[in-house]
Amino acid sequence: MFRIEPISSFDSPELRPYATMRRPAEHETQGIFVAEGTKVVRRLLESHFAVVSVVLPEKWLDDFRPLLEARPEQITVYLAEKQFLETLVGFSMFQGVLAVGKIPPPVSLDDILSNNRKPLLLVAVDALTNAENLGALVRNCVAFDVQALIVGETSSSPFLRRAVRNSMGTIFQLSVIELAKLGLRHRFKTKPHATKLILAECLQELRARGVRCIAAHPHTDNKFLSQADFTSDCCIVFGGEGDGISKPVLEACDDAVAIPMPPAVDSLNVGAAAAVFLYEAARQRRKT
Ligand SMILES: C[S@@+](CC[C@H](N)C(=O)[O-])C[C@H]1O[C@@H](n2cnc3c(N)ncnc32)[C@H](O)[C@@H]1O
Repeated sequence: MFRIEPISSFDSPELRPYATMRRPAEHETQGIFVAEGTKVVRRLLESHFAVVSVVLPEKWLDDFRPLLEARPEQITVYLAEKQFLETLVGFSMFQGVLAVGKIPPPVSLDDILSNNRKPLLLVAVDALTNAENLGALVRNCVAFDVQALIVGETSSSPFLRRAVRNSMGTIFQLSVIELAKLGLRHRFKTKPHATKLILAECLQELRARGVRCIAAHPHTDNKFLSQADFTSDCCIVFGGEGDGISKPVLEACDDAVAIPMPPAVDSLNVGAAAAVFLYEAARQRRKT
């Protein structure tokens, strides 16, 4: 269901999310995100995520009509030419197709552990603040059948506009646990009084429940990727662009594993490292 509203001015409060695309913190507190581009908006409309509104130039309306008609909720479709829209958002766009969706309620670790097939393949990120890299990592997670992404309290949200865009909309297919957002009722049963859940604790909890936590860490000669075993329940942990995985998170893992590199190279981009690790995990799982 949808209703069409041509944009004649930018005064409407409903258009505010589009006008504040450069202030993502505002979106997060409202529990919304912005999807950008025809492919990503299409994937959002095909998903189970709630959609609030869509903005597009009239020439795209017929393309999107079947998807809009199939939606269960009432969506407002704002019609605006690309140039007009660019004055609202404050930067130039490729296609001028945008949408606002609602960030789903947090999933609990208990749900992830009990509602997925075994062996589990989870990914966690620590201090990963670059939204583009996070989006690329999300895309790899979905490509290699990861069942859930655990976002540490020092990482960016995967629902930032640039993360959603770089994930190519695959974020709509992945279960996400954002530790910074977990409410009291979602905390672990073993720590009902904890007021703040941090990634290191979460990994310890996973280990207590039989999930091996493997740090993807370039600075170890202990174990290389070809020697690692991903065939049982496991969670692969990736670090951020600056300092990589923090000491407490590294210490909370069972193992640290490196992709071997020549001495002159410090590390790979985290998206590239995730693709290599997850390919290896998927390859081993196909064999067993
Ligand atoms: C850009 S790297 C971090 C570089 C950081 N200076 C460091 O020393 O760890 C970002 C993340 O990608 C993963 N990564 C990159 N290269 C890797 C490698 N060769 N082996 C294992 N993980 C790697 C790790 O999870 C790392 O924390």
